[in-house]
Amino acid sequence: MNFAVIGSGGREHAICYKLSQSKRIGRLICIPGNAGTEKIAENIDENISDFEAVYKIIKRKEIDIVLVGPEQPLVDGIVNYLKKRSIKVFGPNQLASQLEGSKSFMKEMCKKNNIPTAEYGVFENFNEAENFIKQIGIPIVVKADGLAAGKGVSICKSIEEAKKKIIEILDGKFESSKKVVLEKFLKGEELSYFVIVDENSYHFFGSAQDHKRVGERDTGPNTGGMGAYSPSKLLTKELDKKIRKKIIEPTLISMKNLGNPYTGFLYAGLMINDGEPYLIEYNIRMGDPECQVLMMRLKTDLVEIVDLATKNSMQNLKIEWKNDNCITIVLCAKGYPEKYIKDSEIKNLNKILLNKKKQIFHAGTYKKNEKTFSKGGRVLNITCADEKLSSARENSLEILEKINWKDGFFRKDIGWKVIKDDENN
Ligand code: AMP
Ligand code: GLY
Repeated sequence: MNFAVIGSGGREHAICYKLSQSKRIGRLICIPGNAGTEKIAENIDENISDFEAVYKIIKRKEIDIVLVGPEQPLVDGIVNYLKKRSIKVFGPNQLASQLEGSKSFMKEMCKKNNIPTAEYGVFENFNEAENFIKQIGIPIVVKADGLAAGKGVSICKSIEEAKKKIIEILDGKFESSKKVVLEKFLKGEELSYFVIVDENSYHFFGSAQDHKRVGERDTGPNTGGMGAYSPSKLLTKELDKKIRKKIIEPTLISMKNLGNPYTGFLYAGLMINDGEPYLIEYNIRMGDPECQVLMMRLKTDLVEIVDLATKNSMQNLKIEWKNDNCITIVLCAKGYPEKYIKDSEIKNLNKILLNKKKQIFHAGTYKKNEKTFSKGGRVLNITCADEKLSSARENSLEILEKINWKDGFFRKDIGWKVIKDDENN
């Protein structure tokens, strides 16, 4: 079976890694890919916003299934475009993608279906937004309505700060929308919860804990994600049941009732408080870097899973996971998430021995004259699995020491809340 993976991040490298292990994989291409996918797939350099160009590649390469990694092409309607041309594609259509593409759409859907989430208001006018802050109090969360690559959310501890962020959004700092969403601050612990969905059923697709802040002990500005581990220690059987009944199932039913059944990966960003789940956000794709740890733990053949999902035949599928704990540490270019260094050579990569429990998933990298260079903010994902999470982290840190890239930095403390020196985990 021939697959095309769209995207160029650590998530897409991890997806290609898992697909490439299947006995059923035929041709595997990645559009545009990176220096890591190049080793296991054929990279084809194309602008993924140019759907016609992508379609031509898919026809030329006789691709059976297209798997879309990032949110932007999904929100822009790549699934509708390709399906109309009889291409099998895995991911949500444009309307269903509004679950991530528009925070106001998502919050309204929650309200209509009694899905637990933070109290909120949507504003296009400063005075109304200001009145809402007075009503809700601080801390308050200020969000841009549209896509903002993880950078459109600010948790404001003072009214002045909140007003500043509101003005920035209303003035058009984020191109995707000038609407602002204000939310009550939710207390608790975060959990990333994944499902895979077709028109007739859905399955749990793993849990993980992401570390979004740039600094150790979760400080500093938000990023796309500095590291993650899986499984999350928060997820009990009882909590899992609540998440399905109170959040996932009402969402899927609601999308179906709108005439737009959700299909694809669905990622719920949750806040857990006193054993109760609250929906912070939906993402209409796998998380990055969560996908890296999930692909390493996934036992079941991914070609089989996606093949069944695109046929809406997952009902009897059993998805199995390895018992290992898995961690990924993101090696970033100095300066990220602000302006960062580019085109810097990363040495020593071919000296590192990789196996089923130790992988380096590339993100912002490219090859030139047999050398590897950086081109993105998040550059490499050092991903290790082990019986104990603490040993998995030690292994990742050991690899990072060997890479020793002068223009890079990373967090040493991924998993800090659950890895305690004296505990057996
Ligand atoms: P989002 O892009 O909506 O996921 O927000 C990014 C991050 O901001 C989340 O992962 C949370 O850490 C934080 N966040 C967003 N909304 C809230 C909220 N209502 N209460 C507390 N933290 C939040
Ligand atoms: N790691 C967070 C995200 O993929 O949105």
